[in-house]
Amino acid sequence: MINLEVDIAGVKLKNPIITASGTFANGREISEYYDLCELGAVCVKAITLEPRRGNKPPRIAETPSGILNSVGLQNAGLAYFMKYEIPFLRKYDTKIIANISGCTIEENCEIAKRLGNLVDLIELNVSCPNVKEGGVAFGTNPKITKEITKRVKENCAVPLIVKLSPNVTDIKEIAKAAEEGGADALSLINTILGMQIDVNTRRPTLANNTGGLSGPAVKPVAVRMAWEVSSITDLPIIGMGGIMSGEDVAEFMLAGATAVAVGTANLVNPTACVDIKKEFINYLDENNIDDVHEIIKAVKIF
Ligand code: SIN
Repeated sequence: MINLEVDIAGVKLKNPIITASGTFANGREISEYYDLCELGAVCVKAITLEPRRGNKPPRIAETPSGILNSVGLQNAGLAYFMKYEIPFLRKYDTKIIANISGCTIEENCEIAKRLGNLVDLIELNVSCPNVKEGGVAFGTNPKITKEITKRVKENCAVPLIVKLSPNVTDIKEIAKAAEEGGADALSLINTILGMQIDVNTRRPTLANNTGGLSGPAVKPVAVRMAWEVSSITDLPIIGMGGIMSGEDVAEFMLAGATAVAVGTANLVNPTACVDIKKEFINYLDENNIDDVHEIIKAVKIF
């Protein structure tokens, strides 16, 4: 039997496969395809204090080897999440990660405080590229990243993951700032800011003009950043960005990730997470690896 269990800041995940925030609704639809107990954790769609309608459509566009989105943090708000989504997810033997995406430091503190220990981990989103306030504005400035991490951490009853943006000059600097602020773990990468133009209408394909690129196109950037961040911190890293196969999982773990989040693949194939998990187990099996820890940060750098 291969040991797949990993530890994120004291929280044990039965395997390293997590759903990436915003690509899985909150599991209801996908639970009709497979048992959510298969997952190491479910990371839910971004939560704000009040409900948000998100940005104007069109807000998703296909690109070669990825998608652009500018959803704008649409969600039903914290009260709805606590009343309906937590009880639904708690029926499954998997961990819950709440992605919180308030517009202000105070809003994030309030959400974290009210969630208490009803979830297993909180992922602070300082990296959404699609909103005017908060999001990436927090996560591109090391001073603000440190400050928001510290303040939110003071209000967290569970370990705090900080989700980093790739839209920076040096992600290591932001990762260090999050660590200094008291982050218990880091997740990366959120989407890369992009733009697509319809040459016939001469208009951007997204009503927000720009959006975040995800999918296989971003994977080499994400792997590079996971590796860079793992070289400057011992905090556990959740790697994500374009994971479509079991070998992609191995690649992120070799780069230094303790766990991974699968995002865009869920939009292509509703059983992506379980398919990828099976492929990953096959990879471990074929390489005679009986404990997943053997490959974490095991890249042989030239
Ligand atoms: C969105 O809702 O716009 C995407 C969330 C994110 O990129 O953090």
